[in-house]
Amino acid sequence: MNAIELLKADHDKVELLFQKVKATDEGEHKALFEQIREELEVHTHIEETVFYPRMKDEEELEDLVLEGIEEHHQVKMFLRELSALADDSEKFEPKLKVLIEDVTHHVQEEEGEMFPLIEELFNEAALDALGEELEKEKQKFKKTYSASGGK
Ligand SMILES: [Fe+2]
Ligand SMILES: [Fe+2]
Repeated sequence: MNAIELLKADHDKVELLFQKVKATDEGEHKALFEQIREELEVHTHIEETVFYPRMKDEEELEDLVLEGIEEHHQVKMFLRELSALADDSEKFEPKLKVLIEDVTHHVQEEEGEMFPLIEELFNEAALDALGEELEKEKQKFKKTYSASGGK
């Protein structure tokens, strides 16, 4: 899978979890949030350590990458805050809703602006190689994430 396909597949997986949140009762949302959190921690990690640093070297992409990093920062702040809430907190549902809105916006910018530019700037071989690197980093990070119990 090339880098763009891999990242889009991650986006689709998270979007599916968002749809499940919208289609289910609040009682199901805590468990769904745990899955969303793991997916987003892994995805933001591989983008920040492998993908964004490579893209930031391209002049046309630098601003988009810098904005992306700030959006990740906000997303991860929400993930931490949601995890820390008491089980019966009235803040859980509204915070989850805002998280979903923020991530959806971020994904739209990546898929609508950043990725099309990248597909113009990089050839298929470069995107394939980057896809392999992303996959490797993903496997490595998943091991540490599950070993730490998501802490
Ligand atoms: Fe991102
Ligand atoms: Fe992404």
